[in-house]
Amino acid sequence: MARIAVIGTGYVGLTTGACFAHLGHDVICADIDADKIERLKRGEIPIVEEGLGRIVSEALAAGKIKFVVGAVNASSYAEFHYLCVPTPQGEDGSADLHYLEAAAEEIGPCLPTDSVVVNKSTVPVGSTEVVAMHLKRSDVQVVSNPEFLREGTAVKDFLNPDRVVIGASDQKAAIRVAALYSRVRAPIMVTDPVSAETIKYASNAFLATKLSFVNAIANLCEHVGADVNDVTLGMGYDTRIGKDFLRPGPGWGGSCFPKDVAALAKIAEDYGYDFTLLREVLAVNNAQFDRTAQKVLQALGEDLSEKKVAAWGLSFKAGTDDLRESPAVEVLQRVSGAGAQITAYDPAVPNGVKELPLVEVVSDPLIAAKDADVLVVLTEWPEFKFVDFDQLAEQMRGRVIIDARNLLDRSVLLRRGFTVIGIGR
Ligand code: UDX
Repeated sequence: MARIAVIGTGYVGLTTGACFAHLGHDVICADIDADKIERLKRGEIPIVEEGLGRIVSEALAAGKIKFVVGAVNASSYAEFHYLCVPTPQGEDGSADLHYLEAAAEEIGPCLPTDSVVVNKSTVPVGSTEVVAMHLKRSDVQVVSNPEFLREGTAVKDFLNPDRVVIGASDQKAAIRVAALYSRVRAPIMVTDPVSAETIKYASNAFLATKLSFVNAIANLCEHVGADVNDVTLGMGYDTRIGKDFLRPGPGWGGSCFPKDVAALAKIAEDYGYDFTLLREVLAVNNAQFDRTAQKVLQALGEDLSEKKVAAWGLSFKAGTDDLRESPAVEVLQRVSGAGAQITAYDPAVPNGVKELPLVEVVSDPLIAAKDADVLVVLTEWPEFKFVDFDQLAEQMRGRVIIDARNLLDRSVLLRRGFTVIGIGR
């Protein structure tokens, strides 16, 4: 087993460190946030991730994971150094690498000889060279090992990946990193660093393209009178299309897709390729936020002054409390901006949302529905399917439901006198 330093304890770093410890390695996780490190030492997990709390507690009890403040206090004693620092979107759409460069400069002088530094964060094509330059160490290898973790299922995705991708110019370094995954049953693909970095962006951009396509098909279904549920079912039988990632919605979001699609478009532009398709994928997604908001506003009618909207769902997808680039927030910003009063409920978001200062957030879906003229479902939380719809009918003033995730059972609602407007059906 190996000694691994993980620099950064966000969604990617904490999951990576905990899972490597779960696989038997000795892990030291470092962060600049001392308070966060103190909480992690007590096994307190600051994010909603299925199973993460358990494997962190087990690793702490077994002495397989430690949490320290400062990257130097982790990297001085490790053989592998996973960089899991943020690569936020810059003003021009490109990924901002200053955290990555700072981390490399910080650990460069303290790295034991023959260390391997590994880029786990999503970094622009060519970043392996950038990290090597900032490390200033000729006796250290830099490898790309991109993450393919989905929020809410990150632990499962790490321990049961579809594939492990390793990008290295030094074959021995690639083999050493591949050995870290010896207990993971998945194909391990070794390629050069640039190809590994491109695989990550291309994968996310393809998935976003698939979603923008299915949202556009849903909109077409509304025009031609088709049922998108049947259309996507019929499409998905073709194994080249596949049944996954074909659920239309209010648009897609999260901390990765928007950032990564914009970054890939910028990378293409910087390298002289006009990736018009990607710009259209982003445009279709923004139009889907507008279209969903329009459905709510049309249902409310002209005069919004006394009108009330109930919103179920604020997080960017079910299973997480993450509000970053949430489609629900995008839609509600548009509806709130038009002057409607909104009360929202989300099982994972107990408090107000800073991007929605006028939206009241309550602790129960039926409380949110009180006196509402329109209910809009924006996140596909399963619990919304099991609300008492007789009580909902009593609570609401109006009878219109905009189901932007096609989540609810339409026949149950129609029997109770509701009008249901979905996406593509
Ligand atoms: C994504 C990629 O899936 C993952 O491989 C990568 O490592 C990080 O980015 P994540 O951002 O956690 O993961 O969310 P994901 O589950 O992919 O959903 C992204 C967005 O697409 C969400 O807003 C979700 O609601 C939406 N979505 C997803 C749909 O609208 N329809 C679908 O069928 C699937």
